[in-house]
Amino acid sequence: MKRTQETSGMRDVDQTVAETEARSDSGELIFFVNGRKIVEESADPEMTLLTYLRRKLGLTGTKLGCAEGGCGACTVMLSRYEPHTEELLHYAVNACLAPLCSLHLVAVTTVEGIGSVARKLHPVQERIARSHGSQCGFCTPGIVMSMYALLRNNPKPKMADVEEAFQGNLCRCTGYRPILEGYKTFTVEGGCCGGRGRENGCCMTNGNGALKSSEDEVDETLYNIADFAPYDPTQEVIFPPELMNLSKGQRSHLLCFRGDRATWLQPARLEEFLHLKWKHPAARVVVGNTEVGIEVKFKNMVYPVILAPAFIPELNAVTHAEDGIEFGAACTLSHMGAVLRQAVETLPPHQTEVFLAILEQLRWFAGQQIRNVAAVGGNIMTASPISDLNPVFMAAGCKLTLMDKDGSRVVQMDDGFFVGYRKTAARPQEVLLSVNVPYSKRTQFVSAFKQSPRREDDISIVTAAMSATFTPGTDIVEDLRLSYGGMAATTVLAKRTASRLLGRSWGEELLQEACSSLAEEMTLDPTAPGGMVTYRQTLALSLFYKFYLTVLKKLRLQGVNVQEVGSECASATEIYHPQTPSSVQIYQAVPEGQSQDDVVGRPIMHLSAMKQATGEAIYCDDVPLYENELYLALITSTKAHARILSVDTSAAECLPGVVCCLFADDVPGSNATGIRQDQSVLADGKVTCVGHIIGAVVADTQLHAQRAAKAMKIQYEELQPIVTIQEAIAAQSFYQPIRTIQSGDLEAGFKQADHILEGEMHIGGQEHFYLETNVTLAVPRGEDGEMELFVSTQSTTDTQSQVARALGVPANRVVVRVKRMGGGFGGKESRSTLLSTVVAVAANKLKRPVRCMLDRDEDMLITGGRHPFYGKYKVGFMNSGKVVALDVSYYGNAGNSMDLSLAILERALFHMENSYSVPNVRGRGFLCRTNLPSNTAFRGFGGPQGMMVAESWMTDVAQSLGRSAEEVRRLNLYTEGELTPYNQILHGLTLDRCWEECLSQSGYRQRRAAIDLYNRQNRWTKRGVAMVPTKFGISFTASFLNQAGALAHIYTDGSVLLTHGGTEMGQGLHTKMVQVASRILGIPFSKIHISETSTNTVPNASPTAASASSDLNGAAVQNACETLLKRLEPYKTKNPKASWEDWVKAAYFDRVNLSANGFYKTPDLGYSFDTNSGRAFNYFSYGVACSEVEIDCLTGAHKNLSTTVVMDVGHSLNPAIDIGQVEGGFMQGLGLFTLEELHYSPQGVLLTRGPGSYKIPAFGDIPTQLTVSLLRDAPNDKAIFASKAVGEPPLFLASSVFYAIKDAISAARAESGITGPFRLDSPASAERIRNACSDRFTKLCRPVEPGTFRPWSVQV
Ligand SMILES: Cc1cc2nc3c(=O)[nH]c(=O)nc-3n(C[C@H](O)[C@H](O)[C@H](O)COP(=O)(O)OP(=O)(O)OC[C@H]3O[C@@H](n4cnc5c(N)ncnc54)[C@H](O)[C@@H]3O)c2cc1C
Ligand code: FES
Ligand code: FES
Repeated sequence: MKRTQETSGMRDVDQTVAETEARSDSGELIFFVNGRKIVEESADPEMTLLTYLRRKLGLTGTKLGCAEGGCGACTVMLSRYEPHTEELLHYAVNACLAPLCSLHLVAVTTVEGIGSVARKLHPVQERIARSHGSQCGFCTPGIVMSMYALLRNNPKPKMADVEEAFQGNLCRCTGYRPILEGYKTFTVEGGCCGGRGRENGCCMTNGNGALKSSEDEVDETLYNIADFAPYDPTQEVIFPPELMNLSKGQRSHLLCFRGDRATWLQPARLEEFLHLKWKHPAARVVVGNTEVGIEVKFKNMVYPVILAPAFIPELNAVTHAEDGIEFGAACTLSHMGAVLRQAVETLPPHQTEVFLAILEQLRWFAGQQIRNVAAVGGNIMTASPISDLNPVFMAAGCKLTLMDKDGSRVVQMDDGFFVGYRKTAARPQEVLLSVNVPYSKRTQFVSAFKQSPRREDDISIVTAAMSATFTPGTDIVEDLRLSYGGMAATTVLAKRTASRLLGRSWGEELLQEACSSLAEEMTLDPTAPGGMVTYRQTLALSLFYKFYLTVLKKLRLQGVNVQEVGSECASATEIYHPQTPSSVQIYQAVPEGQSQDDVVGRPIMHLSAMKQATGEAIYCDDVPLYENELYLALITSTKAHARILSVDTSAAECLPGVVCCLFADDVPGSNATGIRQDQSVLADGKVTCVGHIIGAVVADTQLHAQRAAKAMKIQYEELQPIVTIQEAIAAQSFYQPIRTIQSGDLEAGFKQADHILEGEMHIGGQEHFYLETNVTLAVPRGEDGEMELFVSTQSTTDTQSQVARALGVPANRVVVRVKRMGGGFGGKESRSTLLSTVVAVAANKLKRPVRCMLDRDEDMLITGGRHPFYGKYKVGFMNSGKVVALDVSYYGNAGNSMDLSLAILERALFHMENSYSVPNVRGRGFLCRTNLPSNTAFRGFGGPQGMMVAESWMTDVAQSLGRSAEEVRRLNLYTEGELTPYNQILHGLTLDRCWEECLSQSGYRQRRAAIDLYNRQNRWTKRGVAMVPTKFGISFTASFLNQAGALAHIYTDGSVLLTHGGTEMGQGLHTKMVQVASRILGIPFSKIHISETSTNTVPNASPTAASASSDLNGAAVQNACETLLKRLEPYKTKNPKASWEDWVKAAYFDRVNLSANGFYKTPDLGYSFDTNSGRAFNYFSYGVACSEVEIDCLTGAHKNLSTTVVMDVGHSLNPAIDIGQVEGGFMQGLGLFTLEELHYSPQGVLLTRGPGSYKIPAFGDIPTQLTVSLLRDAPNDKAIFASKAVGEPPLFLASSVFYAIKDAISAARAESGITGPFRLDSPASAERIRNACSDRFTKLCRPVEPGTFRPWSVQV
């Protein structure tokens, strides 16, 4: 250790610091937003840029999706002028994590700043809209800004740059493909061919691959890029000249901003920084705020003094020294990446092994918005055990320079540096000045690995870096460092193993010794936080094996005589590089002769897409603040099952801004709520889940309300909770009734069967993760108990009736208005009323408007999701593969109330045979009453769980017979006219057509052969393929819900205002309804407007759900429009050549009623479980998908190589919207079956409460090749204009990916001599895949006997 001399000029510094701190006022924060100068005199150090934009400036285009940097909805661009280099820097950041105070002399560009519908759209906005890349639109501004920032730096990027730019953006609706397609037009690869490209015209036709489904009629494009405004980078807004001048002068001052609880000190010089840290050793250093921001928001941390050293030159310096590169601690990860990339290009390869390892980690480190601000020093000093960089720094032997006001010392970054969980050896007064990253030696090899549930923007499960140095010219190990993250409370070195291997030859013997030694050294307690204990231990070995092979290859390349890596093992050493996805969409053009004005069947853009892309579309929380508005925060239970002994509000009530607290006694009407009135508005004496709403605090701002809610002290008497399905079965904790559907003769069926097998499967739940969380604004109207509510809900009627009941007023006093939702997916069908009712109660009590938008963690905690299911089956089948008997039981985890669970269970049973004809069946369904938040509707509504179990037994049948699963599935498919187990005849069956088309379009047979060959040639990566059909029943299973209303007004200028009972949540319902009205009325759709959905225009509307909204509301709209048309008929007949406006005027002057309502109910529905008769569904939607995957047997990671979907949507009302639904639904299913995992503690606490820990599919998860084809010539006589429902049916097709994974695992197991059926639960996570691929490494890491310890999380 070396100490340098005291830094000079300390006395000046003392004085500056003392003077600045002595001032009681806050400094002036100067920054620009969209070209406008802002001088903020009271900048609050705890306020984020996002809050400032939305609440202070009213710029609501930038959205809040998570507040933790994980979704990208809040992306804005920051621009800075660097006076030293005279450079202008533009970079995308997450406004939700950017502290307001960090913006001094920064220009902020938001989505509003680059274009608008009124002015002119920026090409980035226009192209995402026109290419159908915006459905609900809540993610769109963030995606627009990521793309915009990319183009500002690189006007002609590559597709790989675009994909990198989107690593930090999520979309839950579109499935990403259309966004990438639309933005491809900006890239070098995507320049349009000008119509000369491919077989059937332009290269952009139908995506980028224009495939012909047959000889004709696929010539219409989903969008025409000729309509895109050209992009001219020279036309961009300029950096404010005033800011440039200011930047030249003002960076050299120490800044100080004071807030209620925190002071922000921004030193300009290193001496000031050191002095401040010496004075305030407990001060938090903040650079990117990507760690500290999370601590403040989610861990309730308060940091009274914040030191922000981001502009200190020494902390940003990059010095190329003799032994390596020295990075200032505040260097951002993006900058570090750029420097290292340059070094790799210029230095001899042997010197850059460490650099390449760091670059590999940076590729998968968060998203670009985070990397643009997060500092390398922040990553080191956080000392997280799952840091991605620390293992590399440790394995490479990096050196750190720590400094305090008395001097500096250099420390080696080894296990002595990390002294405990998130603790380093740095002293409180010390700061990290820099990190020295060494050049590698000629005989040194370094690799880094990261394994996380999702490849992009995810935290590691295990991360590792390994460095081996050899005696020159030999394979003798001279130095070895194996560093792991995720295996202990700190980043650790496997020192024992490394020392054992020193001096040894790099060969099989060393490998064996290394593995058994690592298995001993890298152990985890079975209760370890993060769970996946066996998997993590196996990874420690598997990753070493990958390193072992990589080093063997490199040694051989250097001419050292070592064992050759067989070609079958080569793929284990490959570094994953994503391929740019390509796609094809096929649909049927409208019939020849259809008038151009008739837009039905045409790919019309979502009517709000342009507004969504510019941020002008108004969502519930974008409604401007009312003058006297208050904010509400919920108080929720921290216990799964308990009696409430006392609630102490005293600490909360004396906090600033608090207006009142609410509890059950404050509910003036009924406190019973929910679909079945079996829940409480506010808990009354008892709580039955973590997240149960106990009360609420109302305050002047969100921050004050939330702080007060957290200060509430509640005492509980804990009761034993039931958390899992298995616990519920053991306790016989079921809701009634238990449902059964039975047909044929089960006993005879099993007797007839050649074989019988039994199996089981668990299907995990799923969080909706609509990008817009639940939100309500309740405005009391001041008389007669009237209340107006703006709510993000799929069910206006249910919201109205629950509020009316709780307030004790008739429903006619409550108006519920929904403009649009930022996604719903079933999550806002019934559970949105939990929040809206409480907010209404508060508004009613205080007689003031009250608003609440749930934070993402609250939303995930409280509102429930898709039901986890456990299925148990016995299946009888013939030698041919024909299934003849099935006995299946389903257990759904319903949670603490019934909600919609019975209907969901029923739908699971209605789909228990999926698309297969099984003559003898019994299906039973049990609803488990547990102490989880009530689970609820989610796209597919139990159907996917029902069908998933069916595909499990189908796979088992094929595997036990050793036959191809595709053959066995085909053999069992339904045929026209057959009866379902619930006695519905299948008419108009298109399954076989979908099957054959999918078979040929996917090239299944060639694919299968190629996969078999690949699997023979590769030991550690395996490929698999699966074809899966779906048959989805359309109708609400509760018959009375199959009704809809509409209301149409024609105004005297000829414009039409249309309303119907359905809500717009991104699915394009309003667009389709305008298309329907436009055809019936025979007027251009531009004359028709839908403003919102409300209970005072269309009463008693059914929820927008069950995929049936276009069918139901479309027919009601048709009915209303036909009535109006009939009334206009005489004027048309009288004056046929006149215009629409003339007819309308004539009718008006003739005193004709130009307003009509419409109504529709689906005929002949009504199934009875008692008699197993009556039609359950109006019709069925069919589809088939074929997917191919590749798994990495050593890590469990997988790649989605290709998917082909053929979907029967009848005559599509709008192919662009329908393809969007197919792709979006498919991707949601992909999340369900392969990625998304909710973790609950054994005590029922949800551990995964945000995008950081719960992973929905990202851009990188879409299949590399995606073909979506809408079945041609398949009219449906049961729905409007021969169309079919599309919202839910495609979701299940993603199970083809799951079963392709299972197919690949089978190939891996076969290498270890294991064949036949095996259980694979959903999702097929990396952990499950790895554990199922039994091999020499898994054998060294035996799981601890379940039941002998208390795991971190349980399968609920
Ligand atoms: C969405 C998201 C994704 C993420 N993904 C990853 C990932 O993939 N891999 C990964 O490893 N991490 C990840 N992180 C964690 C985080 O981004 C990194 O640790 C980052 O490098 C922290 O840098 P920062 O500048 O933002 O730190 P800050 O939040 O500003 O500071 C973090 C800590 O470091 C200390 N500190 C910072 N600089 C100094 C200094 N010079 N001297 C002394 N102490 C200092 C601070 O006091 C503070 O305690 C992610 C975070 C988020 C929000
Ligand atoms: S809201 Fe900022 S990233 Fe999600
Ligand atoms: S359109 Fe992307 S989240 Fe809805």
